[in-house]
Amino acid sequence: MNEQTFVLDLGTSKAAILAVEADVVGHPHISAAATVPSKGVRRGQIVDVDLAAVTIDEACRKLQQLCGREVGTLALGLGGLHFDCTTAQGFVPVFPAGRAITPEDILQVLNHSRQVPVSPGREQIHALPREFRVDGKRGVREPVGTSGAKLEVLTSIVTSRSSDLADAERATELAGRRLDQIVPVHIAAGLGVTTDADREAGVAVIDLGAGSMTIGIFTSGGLAALASVPIGAQSVTNDIAALLKTSTDEAERLKTHHGAALADDAGDNESVQVLQEDHDRPRDMKRRVLCEIIECRARELARLAADAVVGTGVAHEVRAVVVTGGGSLLKGSGNVFAEAFDGVPLSVRTPQIGGAYGPVVSKPGMAASLGLARFVFAASASDLVPATGDSGGWKQRVRSLLSVIGGRN
Ligand SMILES: Nc1ncnc2c1ncn2[C@@H]1O[C@H](COP(=O)(O)OP(=O)(O)OP(=O)(O)O)[C@@H](O)[C@H]1O
Ligand SMILES: [Mg+2]
Repeated sequence: MNEQTFVLDLGTSKAAILAVEADVVGHPHISAAATVPSKGVRRGQIVDVDLAAVTIDEACRKLQQLCGREVGTLALGLGGLHFDCTTAQGFVPVFPAGRAITPEDILQVLNHSRQVPVSPGREQIHALPREFRVDGKRGVREPVGTSGAKLEVLTSIVTSRSSDLADAERATELAGRRLDQIVPVHIAAGLGVTTDADREAGVAVIDLGAGSMTIGIFTSGGLAALASVPIGAQSVTNDIAALLKTSTDEAERLKTHHGAALADDAGDNESVQVLQEDHDRPRDMKRRVLCEIIECRARELARLAADAVVGTGVAHEVRAVVVTGGGSLLKGSGNVFAEAFDGVPLSVRTPQIGGAYGPVVSKPGMAASLGLARFVFAASASDLVPATGDSGGWKQRVRSLLSVIGGRN
């Protein structure tokens, strides 16, 4: 039997869990997928550990029924503001000079790059090499086997607030599972909807979720920056509910079935049936009014996302913007985001996979879970797991990947 790895994207509105295994040619293959409504998460962050544990348990049970295996250990994808990414450098001499570089040299140089101070209350969770240099020669992607006297690395160090890691660990334990690693969904969503070529050229990926927007910026093939905005597509629903005086469910229905991010999408004579609170029967309203409410918030979201990209300081390296996440299903969202990104080519993307679970996974809201599967699969295929202690706990291992890619679109 093939070995399966389990990954769970703990989102604000839903948790998505996937089983991933190697196919015949060694690429990641999704062998089961399930989603459940999420509880205990707000704005992409765990706010109630007990409820998050219930969500994790429900997702695991649902997947177990599909794949017939116990989900014992899992990797968790998390959003939120508590992740950060900084760039560090490391170098080691190769001795004797001129011999071929080995995987041990790579581990050593990565560990050297990790000797940067981490603020109190924070921890390193990933060390992702972006570029190696051999004897000063830049842009070396796979240094193993090349010969030289000095090996250098440029590494993206991903850190998280310790208390948030502890909450995630506790929720997983309460659900009766073991936590293998935590991956920011900013990275995961990026891997879910971009190709090697996109990340090589420079791309910002915005995952427009229910409670947050997470942004991963990839340049020269590697992770360059992360950013989060603690507001997402749920705010559109909340605005509709407040302004049209409806329940949240009715506002969600209006948004997803009749909404558009541009008021001009609505013709003058178009109307929608709106069931307001304290009313027994729906009444007719101009669809344009609904779309005006949506446009106002959609523009705000797009502006916040654009500001967040600028705030990373690497916007000048971004050649294209990709929007994904469930919120990107809103009609016209691409136009509104394109205007906010003023001239940078922008596309709205849906992750695509074939196979039995293609219809479950090939949705914008699944970008992070698919990318998470790719990331974790690539991490397990790589031996680059520098140990920082010997107690064996998941936090004692900082994950590294020679390249962040784990699969292709
Ligand atoms: N057809 C649609 N039109 C507009 N919006 C939609 C549509 N389908 C889903 N959405 C919105 O997408 C959002 C859910 O997206 P997603 O599943 O990516 O969020 P999440 O991962 O649970 O949240 P987060 O990433 O913020 O933690 C909801 O706000 C929902 O209203
Ligand atoms: Mg999400």
